[in-house]
Amino acid sequence: MTQLRGQAAVITGAGGGIGRAIALAFAGEGASIAALDIDEGRARETAEMAGGNSRGYGCDVSKRAAVIAAVDDFAANAGGLDILVNNAVFFHYAPLVEMTEALVDKMLDVGVKGAFWASQAATPHLIARGGGLVLNLSSVAVSFSVKNAAVYTSIKGALDAFTRQQAAELGPHRIRVNALAPGPVSTPGANSVITPEGWEARRARTPLKRIATAEEIGAAAVFLASRAGQCITGVTLKIDGGITIAGP
Ligand SMILES: NC(=O)c1ccc[n+]([C@@H]2O[C@H](COP(=O)([O-])OP(=O)(O)OC[C@H]3O[C@@H](n4cnc5c(N)ncnc54)[C@H](O)[C@@H]3O)[C@@H](O)[C@H]2O)c1
Repeated sequence: MTQLRGQAAVITGAGGGIGRAIALAFAGEGASIAALDIDEGRARETAEMAGGNSRGYGCDVSKRAAVIAAVDDFAANAGGLDILVNNAVFFHYAPLVEMTEALVDKMLDVGVKGAFWASQAATPHLIARGGGLVLNLSSVAVSFSVKNAAVYTSIKGALDAFTRQQAAELGPHRIRVNALAPGPVSTPGANSVITPEGWEARRARTPLKRIATAEEIGAAAVFLASRAGQCITGVTLKIDGGITIAGP
């Protein structure tokens, strides 16, 4: 359990769900983590669970200056930065015609611009370290239609494109940029938009006949951050029980 010993990682939206699971998986491998979340109490709770020199920050990722301040503070305290995980999201599912401007702005500000700001904040630290990893949370929802999810799937598609773009741009600095595309995972956010019938339909459609856990997404993040992942960049790794290759 020492694959990430001595490394420092920032995870956005780490106050719960997949972000917390990734933070705890990294900490379990010896990393110090910064949990950034709009809910400061939950961010601090994740940092306490992670232990060591981990820190929790109340930080709205849509606010550029706040993200830069939190990342700089953590890197100064940790003696540098090795990993950024762009995980924060604000979910709302509805037919596009019912989406208000305020809702669309909030989803884009958190889900897309938040990743831009955190990447801007982290990149100088990763370059100073001589390399590192940026991991963006995409979704299998990019690969097929999901009812009422036009804005959400567009955001995740944007992060896939951003991943490939940044992988090429930052590769010469030995910074790897990858994405994880989970299938459905039971989290507070997912449970707010998927009904019990929706979960059962997803499970039934999945070739492995089960839904991935947040801990399994954390394990995939560890793989990409570990020595085993050192020549992998520009990919979107699906962790979906095969749901995207299931036939109609
Ligand atoms: N759960 C799934 O089924 C699933 C599937 C595919 C991809 N994903 C992706 O995984 C990531 C995590 O999803 P989740 O299901 O754990 O979500 P979640 O809603 O359960 O957790 C999101 C976290 O982000 C935080 N957050 C919200 N707005 C924020 C802001 N402005 N600034 C900082 N933090 C903010 C929330 O407080 C929360 O702790 C997302 O990028 C999501 O798109 C999830």
